[in-house]
Amino acid sequence: MTWTKAERYRSLRDVSALDMETLRTKTAASPWRFGYHIQPPTGLLNDPNGFTYFNGEYHMFYQWFPLGPVHGLKHWYHVTSTDLVTWTDRGVALVPETTEDSHGAYSGSGFVADGELHVMYTGNHRTDDWTRHASQLIGVLRDGKIERRNVAIPDVPAGYTEHFRDPKVWLENGSYYAIVGAQRENETGCVVLYRSSDLNDWTFLGEVKTGLDPFGYMWECPDVFELNGQHVLVFSPQGIEPDGHRYHNIYQSGFVIGKLDLETLTFEHGAFEELDFGFDFYAPQTTEHEGRRLLVGWMGLPEIDYPTDRFGWAHALTLPRELSIEDGMLKQRPVQAMTKLRQAEFVNVSGTAVGASTPNRYELELTTDGSDFTLELLQVGDESLVIRYDASTRELTIDRTNAGEPFATEFGTTRTNVMDVTSLHLFVDSSSVECFVNDGEAVATLRVFPSELDKQLRYEGATASLIGWTYE
Ligand code: FRU
Repeated sequence: MTWTKAERYRSLRDVSALDMETLRTKTAASPWRFGYHIQPPTGLLNDPNGFTYFNGEYHMFYQWFPLGPVHGLKHWYHVTSTDLVTWTDRGVALVPETTEDSHGAYSGSGFVADGELHVMYTGNHRTDDWTRHASQLIGVLRDGKIERRNVAIPDVPAGYTEHFRDPKVWLENGSYYAIVGAQRENETGCVVLYRSSDLNDWTFLGEVKTGLDPFGYMWECPDVFELNGQHVLVFSPQGIEPDGHRYHNIYQSGFVIGKLDLETLTFEHGAFEELDFGFDFYAPQTTEHEGRRLLVGWMGLPEIDYPTDRFGWAHALTLPRELSIEDGMLKQRPVQAMTKLRQAEFVNVSGTAVGASTPNRYELELTTDGSDFTLELLQVGDESLVIRYDASTRELTIDRTNAGEPFATEFGTTRTNVMDVTSLHLFVDSSSVECFVNDGEAVATLRVFPSELDKQLRYEGATASLIGWTYE
């Protein structure tokens, strides 16, 4: 189905309760709805937004087009959690309905000021001739709705195009800072910084000087934070070509570690690294609470058709991960509280060849002696997701060539990471797999659309122990 502009830029306010009910019924009829991930009630979810701890709860918002599996008029949907595991549905928080955000309340971040949860996000406006205009808006969450507070940054500074968005705000030394994703007039990507003392007047400080210049044509969804005494800059660059095993997704998400000097705006850093070597990961955002740095990503990518589209919905958010830097390496671990979801053990065995029936949703820990193995998940008939490790080349390969309904095959059907592998920690939901390697040294996230519910796992290779728990 092709969507006209008029259909894409309809808001929730333009649809009847009956139309929404029809959409909900269509979505509910879908196989592959998630059990324990944040997913849209209907329509399309993309970036996590406004991830903040406030008043005893984690608040998470996400980019949402309610009316179908396309990138139409973006609203913000809201969910909350006390433990990062079980989420309460809070409904739509932001329906774009002003001139500034007439074509979408685009991505942004959350922060607490004056005892209230604030957000700064990008207003995406199109003129009649479809020229884009970006501004950065501040809102406050009141009674579950984001109310407009002020237009913080009304225009794009000289030297940049209207691809200027996704502000991430933080407070440091009594000032608010915002880092914004940008495209220079010469069509290269970068990030810029603003500072404000009162949230009203924002001073453009300039561009963050990195060693990644040029590096793609646009940097989306920047985030910068201090972790274990260093700075981490996370962003999602577009326009990076594949390089060996790296950068095979349509767009990338990654980070650099180093030192950001807020006076000179220089960021001395090491190599850019991808956050995730799977197929479906983009636009992550972090927040901090009680010294823990937490990251959630969009389990999807733009411009790709997914098999759930025909049921009127698309995508989910990843599980929250806790970040740390250990021996100069960024580690990402599933949050500890995930263990709350463990129900019965469905497998607990050691050996060199293992087979087991698997539930629709589960967690699995696999520990090996470091030699070769092949793990097949979601196996039914000759269909399975294959995770293979070759110790001689140190290649860990995830192969979804024959893992249910194919999609996005033009971007390849395998992903490989080169590393020593001694353990995998897997979270399988109805249509996703998140695979943490060696206690958080690497992560691969992917969607997969198995054709049947009754599935098996098969393991062969290095002496290993496997333990798995059913999730609801
Ligand atoms: C990233 C992104 C952001 C933008 C949002 C719009 O996926 O393109 O740059 O704010 O999605 O939905």
